[in-house]
Amino acid sequence: MTFTKDFFWGGSIAAHQCEGAWQDGGKGPAIMDFVTKGSNKEPRTITNRIDSKLDYPSHLGIDFYHHYQEDIQLFKEMGFNALRISIDWSRIFPKGDELEPNQDGLNFYEDVINELLANGIEPIITLYHFELPIHLVHEYGSWKNRQVIDFYLHYCETVMQAYDGKVKYWVTFNEMNHLDPQSKQSDIFTYLIAGLKYSEMENPVEDLARIGYNMTLAGVKAVRLGHEINSENKIGCVFGLNPIYSYDCQPDNVLKGFLDNDRDYYQVDAMCNGKFPNYKMKQYQSLDVKLRNQPSDVEDFSKGSIDFIGLNYYMSSISEPNIPVKGESSLFGGLQNPYLEQSKWGWGIDPTGIRYVMNYLYRKYELPIIITENGLGATDKIENGKVHDDYRINYLQKHIEAVKQAVEEDYVECFGYLTWGPIDLVSATTGEMSKRYGFIYVDLDNEGEGSLQRFKKDSFDWYQKVIKSNGESIQE
Ligand code: BG6
Repeated sequence: MTFTKDFFWGGSIAAHQCEGAWQDGGKGPAIMDFVTKGSNKEPRTITNRIDSKLDYPSHLGIDFYHHYQEDIQLFKEMGFNALRISIDWSRIFPKGDELEPNQDGLNFYEDVINELLANGIEPIITLYHFELPIHLVHEYGSWKNRQVIDFYLHYCETVMQAYDGKVKYWVTFNEMNHLDPQSKQSDIFTYLIAGLKYSEMENPVEDLARIGYNMTLAGVKAVRLGHEINSENKIGCVFGLNPIYSYDCQPDNVLKGFLDNDRDYYQVDAMCNGKFPNYKMKQYQSLDVKLRNQPSDVEDFSKGSIDFIGLNYYMSSISEPNIPVKGESSLFGGLQNPYLEQSKWGWGIDPTGIRYVMNYLYRKYELPIIITENGLGATDKIENGKVHDDYRINYLQKHIEAVKQAVEEDYVECFGYLTWGPIDLVSATTGEMSKRYGFIYVDLDNEGEGSLQRFKKDSFDWYQKVIKSNGESIQE
């Protein structure tokens, strides 16, 4: 058998994309509550105030807040033994800088965690999945300000104490490495991660450097704290890593491909190697970036290395060569790979890429890896309560096969495979409901209309078999 007996099979969801109930239980407004729906042609709009004439998909989500018991039953039926959820910081501290937490918010997540445990599902908790109280942006300037690190740590300590003994697996941040996608989509990415628009930054180079540094520092401090609270805690960080291949074998292009691919790894280096990397510090010095780092940070980095790496993987791209060429651009900079098919949203489908990144990570850091997100966003058609989503099954089969190869043939240590959005939810980049990833269909459209009823897709039965066989039977 390729996978260990206790291998985690399940899925990942994020509070702002599924919970809804944005004003219930004392929740405060958070950054994503101000982002309207968009589409793959029309970018999401980020508004300063809530405009009652506009649609904000986080306000309803898929109403997981009121449906979590039913949804967890469906996950259990599929055989899940793990579910990654995020805690929305603004439910625990509505403004982010309070001393006392909001008890209703703590109770809500306690109920969800209890429900998971009662159904044999290990909760894996992301502490920050694009959920930042908006007050911290307006009042403090978001992660540019080191004070936000202290507020984050106070929040982490509160929830880690509250759920101590129930939750063992914690994730400090989701995909903070996408802060700087270097593509025309930059606004939505800097906003998702820090609640700030790239196009409005006065000094983007310095701002992004500071945000990236402060979040990384906050992450290692949270690891130290979590280990002090309970030495049994396993604390990791989730990175979204899309390989960027060389354009061709011309040596300068190969070097450029390597550097482009490695661009996202400085935070992984810092969280795994016990120090913020020299090459990055020197780059900041040469750019005259004032990081406002402090001597005591060195000890935090040295004592706050993560226990595991979470890998979110969807696609790959190729690096732009040194001379201009024609080519379609990809979401995170670089070009589309002509050898690959793309999803309807232009994400290059590349199962080999997941094996490539797993190898790259494992050989560099030798830490256990968990696949924390993987999946295909697609338009589904429902007829008489049935969804025949063979395209989704096909995508997942090939990716699980590649994960198996990484484990069996390349000796990568991997302890779980979680798909993204096992139940349909709101897309992060486009805000649509029609970009669906789930095994479970939710009756809700882009206009927020629908009964919210849940239906099992064909992939539901397929994933159930995969889990039952511990990944041995992945064909239909
Ligand atoms: C990941 C994020 O990058 O991609 C998720 O962690 C997100 O929050 C997922 O939903 C898929 O992206 P999208 O835009 O299709 O929802």
